[in-house]
Order: sequence, then C-alpha cells, then structure tokens
Amino acid sequence: MAPMARILITSALPYINGVKHLGNLAGSMLPADVYARYNRAAGNEVLFICATDEHGTPAELAAIDAGQTTAQYCDEQHEIQKRVGAGFSLSFDWFGRSSREPNRKLTQHFCEALEANGLIEERTSRQVYSIDDKRFLPDRYVEGTCPNCGYEKARGDQCDNCGTLLDPVDLKNPYSSVSGSRNVEIRDTRHLYLLQSKLQDDVRAFVDARADSWPNLTTSIAYKWLDEGLIDRSITRDLSWGIPVTQNGKPRPGFEEKVFYVWFDAPIEYIGSTVEWADANGKTWENWWRTDKGADDVTYVQFMGKDNVAFHTVSFPVTILGSKEPWKLVDKLKAFNWLNWYGGKFSTSQKRGVFMDQALELLPGDYWRWYLIANSPESSDTAFTWDHFKSSINSDLNDVLGNFVNRVTKYNAAKFDGKVPDGGQPGEHEAWIAKELETRLPVLMANYEAMEFRKAAAETRAIWASCNKYINDAAPWTAYKTNVEQAAAGTRTGLNLAAICGIIAQPIIPETADKILDALGIPKDKRSLDIAKLGAGGYPALLDALPRGLPISVPPQLFSKIEDAQVAEWTARFGGGQ
Ligand code: 2FM
Ligand code: ZN
Repeated sequence: MAPMARILITSALPYINGVKHLGNLAGSMLPADVYARYNRAAGNEVLFICATDEHGTPAELAAIDAGQTTAQYCDEQHEIQKRVGAGFSLSFDWFGRSSREPNRKLTQHFCEALEANGLIEERTSRQVYSIDDKRFLPDRYVEGTCPNCGYEKARGDQCDNCGTLLDPVDLKNPYSSVSGSRNVEIRDTRHLYLLQSKLQDDVRAFVDARADSWPNLTTSIAYKWLDEGLIDRSITRDLSWGIPVTQNGKPRPGFEEKVFYVWFDAPIEYIGSTVEWADANGKTWENWWRTDKGADDVTYVQFMGKDNVAFHTVSFPVTILGSKEPWKLVDKLKAFNWLNWYGGKFSTSQKRGVFMDQALELLPGDYWRWYLIANSPESSDTAFTWDHFKSSINSDLNDVLGNFVNRVTKYNAAKFDGKVPDGGQPGEHEAWIAKELETRLPVLMANYEAMEFRKAAAETRAIWASCNKYINDAAPWTAYKTNVEQAAAGTRTGLNLAAICGIIAQPIIPETADKILDALGIPKDKRSLDIAKLGAGGYPALLDALPRGLPISVPPQLFSKIEDAQVAEWTARFGGGQ
C-alpha cells in the first residue's frame, strides 16, 4: 500500500470586513476544502488551515462604519465567518485569527530575523497627513482622483475603476476617507523597508524549482514580478490596529504609533493559525512547518485567487527565505481566475452579487458547492448566472444523481423488502458498467491529484450518468415480470452503484454523500477514495461489495428542482442580469 502522504493545505485568508461573496468562496476556500476532503478520503494525513485576515485599513474602516471598536467588530465578524463557513461544510482543521498571539510573536520574530540578516532598513517616506484628523492616512484612509483614469473615488492603495495599484501620495485632490477633510498635506514619516531586491536570485531559484509543477496562471504571475525586478517595500504603517513593531523583543523606538503592514503579517498567520490549532488540540505544529523538525515530508498546497499570487510566490517567500531559517515553503500553488457576476465583478464594497450568508438562505451548501466546482474559474474567468445555476442543479444533481439513487433504493424497498437482494448472475450490462468504472474512476482520481476541479466534477457527473444508463439498460423492473433472479442481480448492482455514486460525491457535495452512504449502511471506513483500494479486487467486485441481505433505507429526498419562479424572485432580489 502506498505510504500515507502528509498534506498541509491553506486557503487564502478572507478579510475580516464582512461576509465573503460566492466569488471569494469559489476562488480559494471551497476548492481547498474539496482537495482536503479528497485527500482525507484517499487516506492521506491532512491539515487544512484557514483564518480571518484581521489587520489593515479595511478592518478599521468597516468597524467605523459599523459603529464598533475594531476589536469588537473583528470578534463578531470572525464568529460570523466561521458559522457561514460551517454552513458550506468547509472542513477546516482550524479557522484562526491573524490578530491572535501566535501571529504577533511570529511576525515580530520574522522581522527581527530579517533585520539580523541585513534585510531591513529604516527609511523616510512621504505620506499623506490629515491635519484635522491629526494622523497619517495610509492606504484606504485616503481617497482622491486616480492619476491614471481620473476616477474621483480612487482609494489610496488601488483604483477600483481601473485596477491600478497606487501610492496614496500620487492621488490628485486627496481627502481623508474618515472625516472627508481635504485639509491634508504630505509629511515625512519613518518606515521599515524589506530589502526584497537583495533576494531576487533566491526567489527566482525558489520559483524555478517549482515552475514545472505549478499551473501557468501561477508561474506567469511569479515570473512577471521577478522579471520586472523586486523592489524594496515598506512593511510598516502609521496605524494603531495591527501588530506592534519590535526590536530585540521590545517596542521599537520611533515606531510606537506604527504597526506591521497587513500583507506582511497575513501569510505568516498560516503558521500562526497552525500554532493555534496545535495549542488547542495538544498537537505539535513544528512537524508541519519546520523542515528541521519533521516537516520535510510534508507537501504544502496553497489555494488563492489570482490577485494573491504575487504575494505568495514572491513576497511571502522573501520573508521565509530571508529569515534563513528552515521553514516549509509552498510546494503546489493553485490559483483561480474570477467568478464574475453576469458581465461584471462581484463586489464587496458595492454589495454586488450573492454573499455566502445570503446563498445559504436560498439553498443548502451542497447546491452551491456543486455549481461552483463544476464551473470553477480555473482556466479563465467564468460568469455566474441564475439560469446557468438552475440548469446545472436541475440536470446534474436532480436528474442524474438524485434520480438514480432514488429510483434504485425505492425499487429495492418495494420489491426486495429493502434488503440487498441475493440471486442472479452478472451479464452484459454489468460487464459494461464494470468497464466504465475501470476506465473512469482512475481518471477521476487523477483529476483530483492534478487539482483539476472542473474535470473532477465532470468525471463525477459522467460516472453518475453511466450508472443511470446502466439501470435503464438493465431495467430490473422489466426483468422482474419474467425473471426475478435477473431483477435481483440488476437491483443489487444498482445499489452497489449508488454506493459508488455516494463515495465519489464526498469531496464536492459532502452532506448529500453522507445521506446516501448512511442510507446504504456503508461504514465510515468503507468510504475510501483510494484508487488502489477501490480497484484492488477488480472492478466487477465493486458491483457486489454490499453484503447480501444488508438492510438499505431510502435516503431522504436529496435535492429539489429549482423552479422558474425562484429564479425570477432571486433575480429581482439580487439584481442578476444587470
Ligand atoms: O485578498 C485577500 O482577501 C487577503 N485577505 C488574502 C490574504 S492571504 C494570506 F496571505 F493571508
Ligand atoms: Zn483609475
């Protein structure tokens, strides 16, 4: 038997500033969960880590809007995001918080290690200062006219209209986004700069060593940044909410009013969250993260949207490599394009699209999980539309999977007393479906191994469809009239196929898979997705795996069809199509 692999999986950390939309879910947390579930079902040891990303100006501004202190706001929003994630069956081993102690200690440690290696420098830079607010206005605290496109409400760090990354001092007609005051001026301030330029060669070597196994989307972004040349970047900000800046373990003189930049501490929280998990569960975290302490056999896989790739292929590796300590670096990096809302973007600030909590008010998590994985924005951007959603759910889940499981289990209840029937011999139809499984199951597993999620969903559906074709061709209900033994063999095969349909459904639609497998009485240890185990006895044996006489119940209704009236109601509520 292949040795159990150890797989560390992280999803990009969702910002704390409100419940995420379906595009965020589709671009990191959900595929990471599907991959974690696949690997657990395949028998691997998985540690799946996520957390809320709680620092930076977005958190402070959202708290001001909500009339709360930033700490109160983050406490509340963390719990909300955790609950909503559970509603989508996101099976994090730990969902941490970047504002907790382990991340503070690690972030300060990394900065001090970088400084000891000559990679940190204090520099003076020019920043927008609000005289009325009596404070510097970093990033989103300042708004103004975009120097690139003329948009009048561009944020200091980025223009929402044209997407250009900005430096707040470049904005024309700047004003404070806290008070609206235009009484601002440019002042000098001191910040810590991480000398990324000195690590250009190390980062390139790190990327070169992985480029063959990374998808194009990942490597093209990494090389674009490397080819443009790494520039030294400031890793502190004039803010009070965040991780305090230290030197030799004490507050750093001159930095008492400053904190680390959110993008410096956020990826470190992947480690911090693992420490939280270890502390809470009496485990060790070092054998996941320190190659000198047992992490050398870990495969580390990251999931994220394309806007995060540069931070994970360049910036975070600079932190790790620059520390010159034996930390685990990412092995595989799966990046996603955008899931769009009709022709435009989902938008948190403009509340456009469907948000995770709203989605759960409409339908259970599995419906969304199926749609978002089957239409994953892997090779290009994809667009959510209600009509597409409806047809995908009605055809794939209702007509193909739900219909098959329902028909077979109901027929068995009616004609064979709800027990796996004995008698009869396999014939040509059974030989056909055995061959289908022999061909398709290895392809399905290979798609998961390659993190090709759309293809994995398509292959899952194809297997469900083959099971439908089998039962239509074998037609035990017709055979029953003349040959009960043959009907028994067909029904028995159908029940075994229902089990396989449930087993392969586990990564994408776990709640439904459990309903099917529980009704069929499949013990938890017999739900493996390990291809070596599944195929071990030959594929015909899979069609006769359930003990004859085993009581089977009809699962509760698995899905309901989406009706035109619902589409009309949701379109009116969420403004789809505009
Ligand atoms: O883009 C985002 O939503 C960020 N909060 C992702 C952070 S990922 C990690 F580095 F923390
Ligand atoms: Zn612009």
